[in-house]
Amino acid sequence: MLSSKNQKYKSKSANRSKDLLTVRWENNQVVMIDQTKLPAKLVYVRYWKYEDVARAIERLVVRGAPAIGVAAAFGMSLAAISSKAKNKKSLIKDLKTAYVRLRSTRPTAVNLVWALDQIMKVVYSKNDDVEEIKKSIILSSLNMATEDISTNKQLGKNGAKMIHDDDVILTHCNAGSLATVAYGTALGVLRAASDMGKNIRVIATETRPVMQGSRLTAFELNHYGIDFSLIPDTAVGHLMSSGLINRVIVGADRVLKSGHVYNKIGTYQVAALAKRHSIPFYVAAPSSTFDLTSKVSDVVIEERNKNELLKMGNKLLAPKGIKVFNPAFDVTPPELITGIITEKGVIKPPYEETIAKNILSDR
Ligand code: MRU
Repeated sequence: MLSSKNQKYKSKSANRSKDLLTVRWENNQVVMIDQTKLPAKLVYVRYWKYEDVARAIERLVVRGAPAIGVAAAFGMSLAAISSKAKNKKSLIKDLKTAYVRLRSTRPTAVNLVWALDQIMKVVYSKNDDVEEIKKSIILSSLNMATEDISTNKQLGKNGAKMIHDDDVILTHCNAGSLATVAYGTALGVLRAASDMGKNIRVIATETRPVMQGSRLTAFELNHYGIDFSLIPDTAVGHLMSSGLINRVIVGADRVLKSGHVYNKIGTYQVAALAKRHSIPFYVAAPSSTFDLTSKVSDVVIEERNKNELLKMGNKLLAPKGIKVFNPAFDVTPPELITGIITEKGVIKPPYEETIAKNILSDR
């Protein structure tokens, strides 16, 4: 039921300041929450080879655009540490191998390429001392992780101004702590609003087929003590037409200069329904999620393994041998988007002008 706050949530408010730390660097290793084990178990995995980080990104041990970016940057740090190169040229050769492998893991989230390019820029900007270059790669990836937290906190504050007391806000997929280093984008806005004392309720879609909504967003909102109800993806239209939702906030994997937003499959349907029912539809995305050079026709939408649809654990959900199409993302056109919440402020249409003005001027 979409009833008012219950005690269970209030009693969990002690967790409010305890961020879930999704990905971190410790003793020259990458430590991550294993998101494939949630919600049953909160366990951490450690990697000391970049190849294992790449595999972890593919398997969704770590997922969500900003978290993937930082994980890849830490992967480059592992590649640097393990390189036996004696000079800059050989080190760059080793780093390029790692770059190509890490970049190949997931095609849609632009933060991945952004983070890898940031690391390579640092490498090229340094002189020839191999040890110095290695140190600066580690330092840059650590800075990236720290900045992800501060950026998303600022984004959260900016977005919280758009939230009103007693709002019921729908979110799709997981754009929270678990999709970033620690604070979240769309869920960061909700956390900030809640911390400001605004009385909000959240509707989380289950987000088939990988269930980021039921497995991760529900886990996270429960952890932070924010009142929410889980709904099937197929109930969005019904709730909207019944007047039970008055705002939508989702994250993004890539935002183009034109204002087209790539996000988890199903986002477009939610946006189209929100337009139909005159419900404001917001996207929360840090500047690292903006791709100012690609056109819609350039962006590759990841297609994932058919078993994500055919099986739940070991249980078969559909007949063996059937044809399956499993796109992981879709694109929401700018005319369906009320505003894009960033750490610099809320960007409003016409996006062709406003994105260039707000994001481009900063690069
Ligand atoms: O396939 P996933 O789980 O990596 O997809 C994640 C999303 O679509 C998120 O909404 C997006 O990355 C934004 S995360 C702040």
